[in-house]
Amino acid sequence: MSALQIAIDGPVAAGKGDIAARLAKELHLLYIYTGAMYRMLALACIQEDVSFKDEKAVFAVLEKSHIELVRPEKGSKETFLAKLNGEDVTERIMEPDTASGASDVSVYPNVRKVMVTRQQQLADDQPVVMEGRDIGLRVLPNAQLKIFLTASLEERAKRRYEQWKLKGIDVPMEEVVKETKSRDKQDMERATDPLQKLSDSWELDSTHWSQEEVVDVIKKELERRHLV
Ligand code: DC
Repeated sequence: MSALQIAIDGPVAAGKGDIAARLAKELHLLYIYTGAMYRMLALACIQEDVSFKDEKAVFAVLEKSHIELVRPEKGSKETFLAKLNGEDVTERIMEPDTASGASDVSVYPNVRKVMVTRQQQLADDQPVVMEGRDIGLRVLPNAQLKIFLTASLEERAKRRYEQWKLKGIDVPMEEVVKETKSRDKQDMERATDPLQKLSDSWELDSTHWSQEEVVDVIKKELERRHLV
């Protein structure tokens, strides 16, 4: 059987990252956070003073930037390491401007094409859990388990609000709800590979569940399908 591939797609702050990182640790899979790549491109545009609306200029930034997702050292508390032109930007790309910028630059088909190819190369026939918006649809269409992870808008906004607060980023709750809604809308309505629940994906609503519970349910499903 080919290497196990788990694809997790879902809207903003559904808990994809934490769940995927936990699964990776417990099942010894490589965790690939694809959103980090779009966020790094957004950051590169900010640094170059390029508007997210300028498709040509955004693509030129992509071509000349060195966007790297590195596997953290064993024992490190990080679950991924993001490097832009050699600089560690792991913390920086989790800020609000790169989140919305990532959604803006990800609408361009040329950008997506490059990112998808790179993401497929990262998976390179090894056991992986990859999360994003188009993983089950485009990046790993043959994944043995495709999960569509959701939670209510209120719960997701609350999670994002708390994550930002912990990092000292103070955005009013109403703003977080507004930003979450508009990013979801853009990610679900763009023309190229929009976020959607696929006919072969398994929907998990995590609104009332802890991360441990979600991970347990996924592990049970993997056992039920004889995948682990
Ligand atoms: O997962 P995230 O919230 O960090 O992703 C940031 C943005 O990047 C998201 O709003 C849309 C885009 N994205 C995408 O289009 N495709 C992916 N596979 C991952 C992210």
